[in-house]
Amino acid sequence: AVDISKLRANSGLITIDPGFKNTGSTKSAITFLNGEEGILRYRGYSIEELAEKSSFLEVSYLLIYGELPTKAQLEHFQNEITTHTLVHEDIKKILDGFPSNAHPMGVLSSLVCSLTAFYPESLDPNRSSKEVDLSIIRILSKMPTFAAWAFKNQIGHPVNYPDNELDYQSNFLKMMFALPAEKYKVNPVVAKALNTLLILHADHEQNCSTSTVRVVGSSQASLYASISAGINALWGPLHGGANQAVLEMLEQIEKAGGDTAKFIAKAKDKNDPFRLMGFGHRVYKNFDPRAKIIKKAADDVLGQLGVDDPLLTIAKELEQIALKDEYFVEKKLYPNVDFYSGIIYRAMGIPTEMFTVMFALGRLPGWIAQWKEMRENNEPIGRPRQVYTGENLRSYVDLNKR
Ligand code: ACO
Repeated sequence: AVDISKLRANSGLITIDPGFKNTGSTKSAITFLNGEEGILRYRGYSIEELAEKSSFLEVSYLLIYGELPTKAQLEHFQNEITTHTLVHEDIKKILDGFPSNAHPMGVLSSLVCSLTAFYPESLDPNRSSKEVDLSIIRILSKMPTFAAWAFKNQIGHPVNYPDNELDYQSNFLKMMFALPAEKYKVNPVVAKALNTLLILHADHEQNCSTSTVRVVGSSQASLYASISAGINALWGPLHGGANQAVLEMLEQIEKAGGDTAKFIAKAKDKNDPFRLMGFGHRVYKNFDPRAKIIKKAADDVLGQLGVDDPLLTIAKELEQIALKDEYFVEKKLYPNVDFYSGIIYRAMGIPTEMFTVMFALGRLPGWIAQWKEMRENNEPIGRPRQVYTGENLRSYVDLNKR
């Protein structure tokens, strides 16, 4: 038999980098991130300035097309999006097929993928940029409808149709919360908070879900298929699912009598699988600039809504202890974007299982921009290598002799 080590030696140089900690997969002009300094910029604009001054659709345009829109461009973009919010009635049949206890992330990724069936032309990898633009408008318009419908399915309520008189955030809130025949009024504090949260989540360079979107898209799979894959990658508790996990952890601490020090000790214990959810980040090793903005927003929103949430007190206590604790300081573990976002979502009336869906709504323009950039750069198919560690060549043993 041929010696496998010789075969390995002949297969060229392969670097092993588990988790791609030091591997750049692409060049990108979309998002700048400096983990040491805690800097995040979309297309050169600071996250702090965008979160304060911009609207989510404006930021979406910026990420996807590279420049802040003029007034006319923004108006056109918003109108286009409003025109496509309605989804095909047959999608409701797909939704009805899900059991009501289905996690809304699974429902969301399935409904997004179903768009490939309703718009089969989206499967053509050689479409013109005008046709691609229409797919982009469609998915931006329909995601809030899918997200709200996934929620309505879970609580067993009839779905609400989009209201095209409303802006992006308000339309979503109405589809989420309006009861049949109710004159629903959007709370402007909630709509503004949602705008900020969506902007903060809009892009974050080559994270797990974005890399997934780019890798799936690199096989020339459609925009909808690629984004559906990204939604599934986001779902896990080490990525977007962390916002749900944080809230569940805070509730667990509250139920256990609010002993934060005990849970900090658990997080440090290597024999205990418990991790302080919402803490730590692959890239930020000083602070997460989004977490700073969110912490302030949590105080503002809860104050304006008159919500006194004991979970916010627990979260702040955990942060205070961890920031002074040798373990967390040494390992450079700080609150990330998800540490406080769940508390705001809760104050807005959004249930815990919807938190990661909210993240997906925010991340959508980033995924689109990254997919579009990958396509326009004609990037090669993503296909990492491996180092084989299995058996050398073996002879087949007949079934009756095993
Ligand atoms: N609690 C306790 N210990 C932690 C935590 C935590 N939250 N995060 C990291 N550590 C420890 C690890 O045990 C490890 O210790 P070791 O060196 O003694 O083995 C060390 O810090 C480094 O952690 P890694 O998991 O190797 O770091 P990595 O960069 O691979 O992971 C991650 C980053 C996944 C974010 C991690 O910090 C984590 O699991 N955090 C909690 C989940 C979370 O909040 N995820 C959201 C991330 S932000 C986002 O996706 C939007």
